[in-house]
Amino acid sequence: MCSFGKYSIAAVVLLFSVPVICQNILFLQTTPSKSHHIWNKQIFDRLYENGYNLTILSYEEEHSIPGKTFFYVANFYDKIMALYQNNGGSDADSEMTPIQNIINMYDFYEKASGILITEKAITQLLDYPRSFKFELIIHDFTMGQFLLGFVERFGNPPLVSISAFNAPSYTAWLADIPTRVTTMPNYASNFGPNMTFLERCWNLFYWTLDYFYRQWIFMSNEDGRVRELFGMNSSSTTQLEKKSEIVLVNMDFSMDYHQSLPPNVIPVGGLHISRQEQLSPDLEEFLDRPSKAVILFSLGTNVKSEGLGLDINRAILDAFVSLPEYNFIWKHGDPVSLGSLPANVFVRSWIPQGKILSSGKVRLLISHGGLLSLQEAVWYGAPVVGIPFFADQYQNVDKLVRAGVALRLPLPHLNRNSLTEVIQAILQNDRYHENMLQRSKWFKNQPEMPLDRAIYSIEKVIQCKGSLHLQSPTNGMTPVQAYGIDLLVGAFITLALVRKLVRHLLSSVNKLS
Ligand SMILES: *[C@@H]1O[C@H](CO)[C@@H](O)[C@H](O)[C@H]1NC(C)=O
Ligand SMILES: *[C@@H]1O[C@H](CO)[C@@H](O)[C@H](O)[C@H]1NC(C)=O
Repeated sequence: MCSFGKYSIAAVVLLFSVPVICQNILFLQTTPSKSHHIWNKQIFDRLYENGYNLTILSYEEEHSIPGKTFFYVANFYDKIMALYQNNGGSDADSEMTPIQNIINMYDFYEKASGILITEKAITQLLDYPRSFKFELIIHDFTMGQFLLGFVERFGNPPLVSISAFNAPSYTAWLADIPTRVTTMPNYASNFGPNMTFLERCWNLFYWTLDYFYRQWIFMSNEDGRVRELFGMNSSSTTQLEKKSEIVLVNMDFSMDYHQSLPPNVIPVGGLHISRQEQLSPDLEEFLDRPSKAVILFSLGTNVKSEGLGLDINRAILDAFVSLPEYNFIWKHGDPVSLGSLPANVFVRSWIPQGKILSSGKVRLLISHGGLLSLQEAVWYGAPVVGIPFFADQYQNVDKLVRAGVALRLPLPHLNRNSLTEVIQAILQNDRYHENMLQRSKWFKNQPEMPLDRAIYSIEKVIQCKGSLHLQSPTNGMTPVQAYGIDLLVGAFITLALVRKLVRHLLSSVNKLS
């Protein structure tokens, strides 16, 4: 029997009037990040409400109920971080170079896969009877590519790939997105779409490094893991990821740079925005205090305020104290360490960020530049001060700075004075707010909510049993054919032959005359 979750009574009534959906979906999360979980959760919760039976790999603890079964991996993120602490720990004194950033990223994926493959949750999934049928597999293709082995293990059901990590550079491999290095800055760079010659040279280098580091080092290690788990005859991860029928990416052109997307890549940026959150009474009271603009300080779920150290925390608090004309809400995991707080500062270890921004009271978000946070800021029209730490955060912040809706404060420069100055620079100039309200309008002006679009696309794949014929025709071609290298060679040979022929004719004519 298929489950209907909380709608069971309604379902019994409906049972005789509508066809019963009784289909299994395997949802392979891969990214150990609370924010990615929140993004993915919007999708699996809606699919559950629509009557599907979900089997979900998860790194956040959730309760299994009929219709939603979780295979939970505890402390995944901490286990990965433990591998770093052995090699010297983090460095808050300098920003990463793009080259470090790219290599660091794949190194993180590599460490994560190395841990995940030993987890019991994976073995439990492997122990599923071979006859068990999934109608669809959803894979978070941000990382964890070896899990794609489950596609063949479960008899090749249709595959949908999703990522909350914008449109990762490697979406090009899954979906054949054209990569125009002359206008598309690599995520690890600080470049915009209008690059100088030298910047384009560097950009070409970053994309090349990004591509080949992934394919030759990360993906070949993932292939090793696929063979270890699923047998020597398994397809390679590069072949497996190309089975994606559609690819859902967390982007929206109200924020993202221009980029051509093929029909199998569907932008669903901001699908997390409509999620349900609760305001606690004390927070509601704080937000409702009259005639003061609210400033929200949150470094997201992976970068943590308390991790900045006591000195920087004191500097941040001093900046807040020096600006009594504003009220501050600060997401901070260890409020006790801050001592007694001034009246204009509200500190909690967890805050319903979307709900607070949706109140319309927030005039500034101070953020680490996580994409999901910035999307919320744009949706609700709050200007941003970005303090990026790693990965795509530099470019996320940069995009908003170029759009005239944000300022960037480099982490090594973060102190009381710099923070006070940057807050005042934004709040004393209405341009930032006006520009942001414009972006907000662009973002909200869509025929449907991004989550509805995502669910519609996923259900379409299930209904068509994966035969939407949206995959790139280059999947069946060699690189020589796909990139027209054979055509180029052909063109050179033809030119050479024509030249020879013309010379021959000319010399014959000369001889005759
Ligand atoms: C629903 O999914 C769970 C977890 O994979 C599975 O144990 C159960 O048999 C599924 N129910 C049906 C009706 O297939
Ligand atoms: C791999 O495939 C070959 C040829 O199809 C077959 O002979 C062999 O038994 C397979 N090996 C495994 C481990 O499945």
